[in-house]
Amino acid sequence: RRQEDPAVVRQKQLLKETAAMMHHLLVNTKGGEAALSYLTGRNLSQATIDHFDVGYVPADRSLVKKFLDSRGATYDEERASGLFVEDDQGHLFDRFNDRVMFPLKDAYGDIIGFSGRVLTKEASQAKYLNSPETALFNKRDVLFNLDQAKGTFKENGALLFEGFMDVISAFQAGVLNGIASMGTSLTQDQVGIISRQTKRLTICYDGDAPGQHAADRALALVRDHPQLQVGVVVLPAGQDPDEFIQAHGAEAFGKQLQHTLTPIGFRLNYLAQGRDMSADQEKLAYVNEALKEIAQEPEPVAQSLYLNQVSELTGVPAETLRQQLPVVSAPRP
Ligand code: CTP
Ligand code: MN
Ligand code: MN
Ligand code: MN
Ligand code: MN
Repeated sequence: RRQEDPAVVRQKQLLKETAAMMHHLLVNTKGGEAALSYLTGRNLSQATIDHFDVGYVPADRSLVKKFLDSRGATYDEERASGLFVEDDQGHLFDRFNDRVMFPLKDAYGDIIGFSGRVLTKEASQAKYLNSPETALFNKRDVLFNLDQAKGTFKENGALLFEGFMDVISAFQAGVLNGIASMGTSLTQDQVGIISRQTKRLTICYDGDAPGQHAADRALALVRDHPQLQVGVVVLPAGQDPDEFIQAHGAEAFGKQLQHTLTPIGFRLNYLAQGRDMSADQEKLAYVNEALKEIAQEPEPVAQSLYLNQVSELTGVPAETLRQQLPVVSAPRP
């Protein structure tokens, strides 16, 4: 770990103290009660709340400002923290208000920013608000929980979720290798970070249509890292991992995680979605796309499994599909 600039060390120290203050507000004060019952209503235990340093900020937009003033933070340090919005006169107001606060950490476990969640579903407010880009927080290379999860990668590989609530919920269910990108779709930088830490990646995104689309995009990115062995877990019935755990429990979740599709197996199902297989043209178009995927598979046994998968989806006999296989050319090298 390289020597850090004193200004960076100072910023990290201020964010750490701010997170501790927010955690205290959540767990020890009357003002934090509604937020705490929101979290316990989502089945988060006190131990989990402590582990992730979850906190709360109240509705008035001056508490964080007063806190950092009391810590001797300068105006420039406060501006650089990402914790404030600024008016025309340059006055600083707390960016986060009446939100449950999740500290975001770098790979060393130092806090570099926050994400705040609203307690109620109001269309007027974004569900999650992140720190803006700062000298410390560049969301394209942040992976939630990487600092903790990386210690378990050797045994289990990395488990990539869509949301950090899924990481937290999985952690409480005993699954410790979860990480998540910060609300943006997965970036090449993040894939690079993952592939430097592990040879195995499991993608477990939300079971809804946007989640499956995001999983497909993630697969396109990891294709540039052929040394990464990738699996995909598809959850049933549109649930996200947290919802699945709440509905079915930790043990059932563990079983789901064993049920991984290969990238090609995932693609074959994904490409079939929304197609009307009773329409010949759609079916033929699907078969053509599916066979292009299968043509990239060098192993005959795996090819055979995939041909059966497409056969089940289309009703075309697997042997007929196999005869068509040499006709299609692989689109990618
Ligand atoms: N996200 C965001 N802003 C939003 C919605 C989502 O930044 N308005 C990001 C968050 O980082 C979130 C991720 O996208 O973790 C996944 O979104 P979603 O599936 O909607 O959130 P959940 O993790 O399911 O959050 P919750 O269970 O609290 O609703
Ligand atoms: Mn605590
Ligand atoms: Mn989602
Ligand atoms: Mn979700
Ligand atoms: Mn969720």
